Amino acid sequence: MGDALDAWLAKERVDALRSPVDWKGRLSGPLPRAGIGADATLGEFVELVLPHGPHLTSEASWGWITTGPSTVPVAVSAASMIAAPQRQTLTSFNLLEEVGLDWLAELCGLGAHMKGVFSSGGSTANLIALGAARQWALEQQGIDPSGDGLSGVELAVYTSTQAHHTVQRSAGVLGIGRRRVRGVPVDAQMRMDTDALDRAMTEDRARGVLPVAVVAAAGTTNTGAIDPLRRCGEIAKKYGAWFHVDGAYGLPGILDERVAPLYDGLELADSAITDPHKWLNAPTGIAATFVRDRSVLFRAFTQEPADYLEGAFSDDDVQVSLDSMGVPYFDFGVELSSPARGVAVWSVLRELGAEGVRARVVQDNDFARRVAARAREHPRLELLLAPVLSICVFRYVPADPANDIDAVNREILRRLARESRFVVSSTLVHGQFALRPCFINPRTDASDVDAFVDTVLAMGGGGTARDPH
Ligand SMILES: Cc1ncc(COP(=O)(O)O)c(C=O)c1O
Repeated sequence: MGDALDAWLAKERVDALRSPVDWKGRLSGPLPRAGIGADATLGEFVELVLPHGPHLTSEASWGWITTGPSTVPVAVSAASMIAAPQRQTLTSFNLLEEVGLDWLAELCGLGAHMKGVFSSGGSTANLIALGAARQWALEQQGIDPSGDGLSGVELAVYTSTQAHHTVQRSAGVLGIGRRRVRGVPVDAQMRMDTDALDRAMTEDRARGVLPVAVVAAAGTTNTGAIDPLRRCGEIAKKYGAWFHVDGAYGLPGILDERVAPLYDGLELADSAITDPHKWLNAPTGIAATFVRDRSVLFRAFTQEPADYLEGAFSDDDVQVSLDSMGVPYFDFGVELSSPARGVAVWSVLRELGAEGVRARVVQDNDFARRVAARAREHPRLELLLAPVLSICVFRYVPADPANDIDAVNREILRRLARESRFVVSSTLVHGQFALRPCFINPRTDASDVDAFVDTVLAMGGGGTARDPH
């Protein structure tokens, strides 16, 4: 399998839908009555599944915020799936769950007091953080929402219009209500307008709305903008609300000294999340929620003791690893059975160290600045926003002003997918359609980035150079 993966990584990909192999037909046959055995199954995987997957691990894949996982955490995770199918009991895997969280908190500039829990992604990590916020906010009113349910109080969460929509979904799941998430406008740099935040909270207070949380982004999904954290935190405190920082993508950006000052105020956070499966290049399925006080997580998410679980353990006389379940992560979030994820984070940080991660973050931020510099200097390109982190939003500007710029750029995006190796996505910046590479891919180098810009120019008609690949 390792050899097959190496060969696959080194190979030029044929798009799944252009492959001459009838993989769809061969993979979607009827339920097999008799198995074909291990070797033949792995053989089919290598022949039919592997070559017809997505391009997202290739060196030129910069769409959405999807990482190309690096080898070490993937190898460690795969081995752990067999060796440690659960994270509980007093073993090395349970220890690394806590070590991984603590190292991650330190790496991302969160204080040592911030304790965490891993979950499957930014979606669940935000849900867990906002579950803690809801618990805490209603407890201030003498209500235990996870025990007794919500009780007719109108709640609200405040976040910018650029926030990831998992914030809305979390509010829906938690009974706060998706429509109770107030979309605060953003400034020219796509950061939360904190005067507007203050006004919205004043108005709601006058109407008797209970503010649950202010959610600020440390790196928005669309453009990588970092909200004014200190001001957001201060306003949250002023109205007695929880302050949550969504750093699913951008929290490790604090490692780049050029942008570190933008994280000023992070210490005000009551909770924060980050996704090692984004900028740390861990395999998909690993996020972390950190909170100031983990007992709030317990009150929000405990499943109540089960006879077959906690009831079967006592921490009084611990002699073997099976005598205790260790830290009860299953009571701090929404998963009981769960892979051990700390081991993957541990492996990234053992392999690279904090300095190695910093070097990757700086390089990725440099790639975004490299695209931005080309866009600034070329008359047929327009930079829509100076990059803060590793996302660059720009567009092609056709020579003939009669052309619809958005339509031209949509067509370039389509052609990139069909005719090039570059996988990028798009977004809107103040209503303008933008090409949006997001550099978190450890397999990218500067020549890939240059070839991408050349290809955009060539496709728009304002350049001749093509990708030498
Ligand atoms: C800022 C932010 N928050 C949350 C999420 C959701 O993360 P996930 O896709 O891991 O559920 C994303 C995903 O890109 C994100 O960028």
